[in-house]
Amino acid sequence: MQNIETVRNNLLASIATSATPREILKLPELKQLMSVIATLPVEERGAYGKSVNELKQVLESAVIDRETELDNATVESIDVTAPWGINNKPLQLLPTENGSQHPLTSELENVIDIFTRMGFEAIESRQIDDDEHMFATLNFHENHPARDGYDTFRTEEGFIPPAHTSTMQNRILKNGKAKLESGGQIAAVSYGRVYRNEDVDATHEHTFYQCEGVFVSETATLGQMLGTLRSFFETYYGQKLQIKTQPAYFPFVEPGLEFAIEKPAALGGKPGEWLEMLGCGMIHPNVLQAAGIDSTKYRGFAWGGGVERLVMLKYGIEDLRHFESGKLAFLRKFL
Ligand code: PHE
Repeated sequence: MQNIETVRNNLLASIATSATPREILKLPELKQLMSVIATLPVEERGAYGKSVNELKQVLESAVIDRETELDNATVESIDVTAPWGINNKPLQLLPTENGSQHPLTSELENVIDIFTRMGFEAIESRQIDDDEHMFATLNFHENHPARDGYDTFRTEEGFIPPAHTSTMQNRILKNGKAKLESGGQIAAVSYGRVYRNEDVDATHEHTFYQCEGVFVSETATLGQMLGTLRSFFETYYGQKLQIKTQPAYFPFVEPGLEFAIEKPAALGGKPGEWLEMLGCGMIHPNVLQAAGIDSTKYRGFAWGGGVERLVMLKYGIEDLRHFESGKLAFLRKFL
């Protein structure tokens, strides 16, 4: 009988703290208790068997209590407002998989770091915007043919998930107006997701990231813009680069340019292999005016381009679709 008491106390204690309490009912200790019956004097067997059965019932109800407790604990511990982890404890992944930042996140941070060190303020772009910011304030009049070039999505209410980070230009200019008029300058980058109604292939995604720069002062020049961009690209790739521009049309800049770099030999490039990296130009006077900035007194430049393409060149990634594929083999290359 002493033995039954000991087993009972031990098993109840284990059940009370176990994450899999039902497994405890399968332990050999319980079977052994039953096998002891045959060794007992006949007159003791009945009482002993009864005690073992009682013990089984007690343990069964302890298991049910514990299972209920575990179910409730799981429900309570999912706090969707918690910043990270459960009950302030970090999430436990597999011992070998501690998780990591997505390569686009860390590279975007890297890009923003470079611009903030150059004195640019960084502002995240919006995920949902309107015609006003996507087109009207950027000098696309209502029936402007260049509107079609942006393959915009539209909600039923007429909102637009932005097709470029230029949707932030008008806000940046308006916010910076006071600073400009008190003798300062506007220097900001905006970054974030953009959306285009495009067929997806190795070099096109419907959702991707852009980073955009806006600079305004009384004396801004194209030369300053090219110096800024050269400096950014040389810092990002950690080497000297050949750069060139060619004319391009965007309603919100005049002149408008495409900015290209020669693919560095260190990254597998051949001489004369040019890669177009972004669109840029001097901010159109109408865009300054739309933000209430006197375009006869102030001038500015802006640029904007995709983040994935920067990262693909840096790491030799051949297919844009890898980024959103969720493939661990791809993501582990960036650990
Ligand atoms: N927004 C343009 C695009 O996505 C790029 C651009 C930005 C061009 C700023 C000029 C100035 O195509």
